[in-house]
Amino acid sequence: MPSLVLLGAQWGDEGKGKITDLLSRDYDYVARYQGGNNAGHTVIVGDKKFQLHLIPSGVIHENVTPVIGNGCVLDLKVLIEEIDRVEAEGVSCERLIISSNAHLIMPYHRDLDAAHERRLGENLIGTTRRGIGPAYQDKISRMGLRMQDLFDRSIFKQKVSAALIEKNDILSKVYDLPTYTMEQIAEEYLVYAERLKPYIKDTGPMLNDALDAQDWVLFEGAQGTLLDIDHGTYPFVTSSSPTAGGAPVGTGIGPTRIDRVLGVAKAYITRVGSGPFPTELFDADGDKFIDVGHEYGTTTGRRRRAGWYDAVIAKYAVQVNGLTDLCITKLDVLSAFPTIKICVAYEHLGQTYTTVPGHQSAFHSAIPVYEEMPGWNVDITHCRSFEELPVEAQNYIHRLEELAGVPVTMIAVGPEREQTIFNGFVTRD
Ligand code: GDP
Ligand code: IMO
Ligand code: MG
Repeated sequence: MPSLVLLGAQWGDEGKGKITDLLSRDYDYVARYQGGNNAGHTVIVGDKKFQLHLIPSGVIHENVTPVIGNGCVLDLKVLIEEIDRVEAEGVSCERLIISSNAHLIMPYHRDLDAAHERRLGENLIGTTRRGIGPAYQDKISRMGLRMQDLFDRSIFKQKVSAALIEKNDILSKVYDLPTYTMEQIAEEYLVYAERLKPYIKDTGPMLNDALDAQDWVLFEGAQGTLLDIDHGTYPFVTSSSPTAGGAPVGTGIGPTRIDRVLGVAKAYITRVGSGPFPTELFDADGDKFIDVGHEYGTTTGRRRRAGWYDAVIAKYAVQVNGLTDLCITKLDVLSAFPTIKICVAYEHLGQTYTTVPGHQSAFHSAIPVYEEMPGWNVDITHCRSFEELPVEAQNYIHRLEELAGVPVTMIAVGPEREQTIFNGFVTRD
């Protein structure tokens, strides 16, 4: 299996970082294909805790070449700080490769992200305010700056000047905010360029060559299926394509080169920011998910919203991404619950939905229909095989497989690498 797309099957924070890190021992390349430093991936290795935002979660393995693909947007200051932080922990970033076509997050993107959110008031999206939306907006409107622009000073200055004509007007006239000069930005960014020069490459041909050579390539998604700009809960989404289709576009390979697609889903669900969330809990069970699961954002520290596992969403993720495998994470958190609920359908205005309603208003006010299963109430963090799990936990996993229509080939029972059960997932040996 030379190529795998690994992505979030819910609203992000499913534990993708942990699973990517674990699987990376088998892979030659780990390539991020979308998003930027809105992502926050926690990877725990022994007594070390890495919080990665931009660098692919495979970086910790020396056998891996980490790649930041053309579909990503980069805040260069954050990237350099992250490289320094990771290297200070003893992990070399020398092998990191960054696409020359990746777009840059500029200072005005961050300002506009925050200003737009303030303007939306109570209708805000709840973005990470990292400038992600405005950077992708400029990419699509053909006003963006790419990594390669940094290496032609006159082009860089020309493009920044052109962008500032419009950006400064918006900043000052619409939002009453300070403006930028081209010189100010060039001074800052051209220093970053010198530092990052050794990492820049045309990554598309490189990944194609790797696949031709039967190297193993993992395409690492950030965010999640329901945060996808097309397939998520628009407008409460991120501005890129975390779904499987984003992987070829965001790295420069063809879709026929993908062998398997692994969806990572929590044994319950969390969401950060605004937007519909049918199984969201506002009671003691909701608080328990936050407390036991330590559900606070890696990037913004915000308390996550939490609720029961939603099998309707899981089925949707299987469909939109063509999932071949599911990985259920944080199963250990369910040990705290005497009975466990699974949402198997929604009700809205007398109608029952077993698939995600086509109209978002119905999704917004959908009432979940739950199935209840007995819990297991014992610690499972030491379990290393499916058979070691209590029968109630096995039954829960079997039911999730039945509802999703794909096998659960991996199960995580704790944040550490070894707290993982391989349940049929294809590995290299
Ligand atoms: P990502 O954005 O999908 O990589 O997920 P985050 O890193 O933002 O959030 C997942 C959190 O859950 C991290 O703190 C992980 O260390 C932790 N985690 C991952 N898998 C498990 C698991 O199976 N059990 C528990 N208890 N924690 C886990
Ligand atoms: P990882 O990779 C969870 C959410 C934000 C907001 C919406 C838009 O760690 O799973 P943006 O800043 O992207 O314009 O915000 O998307 N969001 C995430 N939620 N995990 C993430 O990444 C997220 N990245 C963005 O909270 O609701
Ligand atoms: Mg996260």
